[in-house]
Amino acid sequence: MTILVTGGAGFIGSNFVLDWFKSSDEPVVNLDALTYAGNLENLAPLKDDSRHIFVKGDICDRALIDQLLATHRPRAIVHFAAESHVDRSIHGPGAFMRTNVEGTFSLLEAARAYWSALQGDAKAGFRFHHVSTDEVYGSLKPEDPPFAETNPYEPNSPYSASKAASDHLVRAWHHTYGLPVVTTNCSNNYGPLHFPEKLIPLMIVNALAGKPLPVYGDGQQIRDWLYVTDHCSGIRAVLAGGALGETYNIGGWNEKANIDIVKTVCALLDELRPDPAGPYSRLITYVTDRPGHDRRYAIDARKIERELGWRPAETFETGIRKTVAWYLENEAWVARVQSGAYRDWVSQQYGD
Ligand code: NAD
Ligand code: TYD
Repeated sequence: MTILVTGGAGFIGSNFVLDWFKSSDEPVVNLDALTYAGNLENLAPLKDDSRHIFVKGDICDRALIDQLLATHRPRAIVHFAAESHVDRSIHGPGAFMRTNVEGTFSLLEAARAYWSALQGDAKAGFRFHHVSTDEVYGSLKPEDPPFAETNPYEPNSPYSASKAASDHLVRAWHHTYGLPVVTTNCSNNYGPLHFPEKLIPLMIVNALAGKPLPVYGDGQQIRDWLYVTDHCSGIRAVLAGGALGETYNIGGWNEKANIDIVKTVCALLDELRPDPAGPYSRLITYVTDRPGHDRRYAIDARKIERELGWRPAETFETGIRKTVAWYLENEAWVARVQSGAYRDWVSQQYGD
């Protein structure tokens, strides 16, 4: 048995692959184009591990996917590969349409051709697991209940619109062709190996460098935060037991305002790496808001708990402490990902 993972050199994908081998010896074929967000260093612990087969390639390359499916005969595809950063989608939506929409289409078509030719148990057991986001549901008002799987899709950013489009394709390939799919929509992940363009790792690395901590608008936007290994266990639960054609929301039951996240990171750094210049919160800087910024996301994760018995293992307090500690212990990793391309992005987004 083998699974094919796409995007397994990115933040969540690499955590998923590393976590997979803690409880399974089943081989993983890992297809990743190694964009700016893909980092083979994340997979260094698997360098000499024959259970992990890394393939550098694009999910839009149908011939390559056909060949990988024919060679490795996976029992499942777990599809992480995507352009994932909202701010980048505002500056340049084209790459999001290509990878998230066309790439998912190409993968679905390859999966359909492969699955159609399978027989018996192999055909019945095959799964296409699509990893998506809660951002497809749009923005909540303060009094709204959290997102349930039945909420209408109301994506607001080019990123969330492209993910919503991919979710619809996955749904249609099940409904029309019978492809055995499951979809998970999760909240904001955080944890080790997170590229420092997203809120939590950006705040940690900027604080350690004595740079401003840029808070968009009034900082009162709310997200639900999910520790990345909890997301990995949720995906494994849905892959193993999720009902075909169903979607499952995965969340951490941690609704927090951005400014409170930033203050928590500052307080942990004050404790673990005090700065002689003063508390890190002195670096908090309110900056121009993101255009179309969604005000609130929150996840109702009762379906996955009720049907599959999954709940997150980490609280926000335990998860954020582990995360800050990881960045303090892995400053060489941070230094290496802050390449020329990363610096170009920071100056485009935040100015010099
Ligand atoms: P990421 O940006 O860290 O990693 C994406 C990976 O996909 C990278 O390794 C990149 O090289 C690869 N990739 C990009 N385009 C590709 C292509 N055309 N072909 C092959 N590989 C390609 O993203 P992430 O944060 O790990 O997110 C993984 C998935 O989870 C995405 O589908 C994202 O939409 C979803 N998601 C993420 C979050 C979050 O908080 N990070 C929340 C909800 C859902
Ligand atoms: P982000 O990590 O980009 O995730 P998403 O937009 O997918 O939720 O941002 C999380 C929240 O933090 C979001 O409300 C935007 C905000 N934010 C800032 O205030 N400053 C920043 O520099 C970044 C990157 C994000």
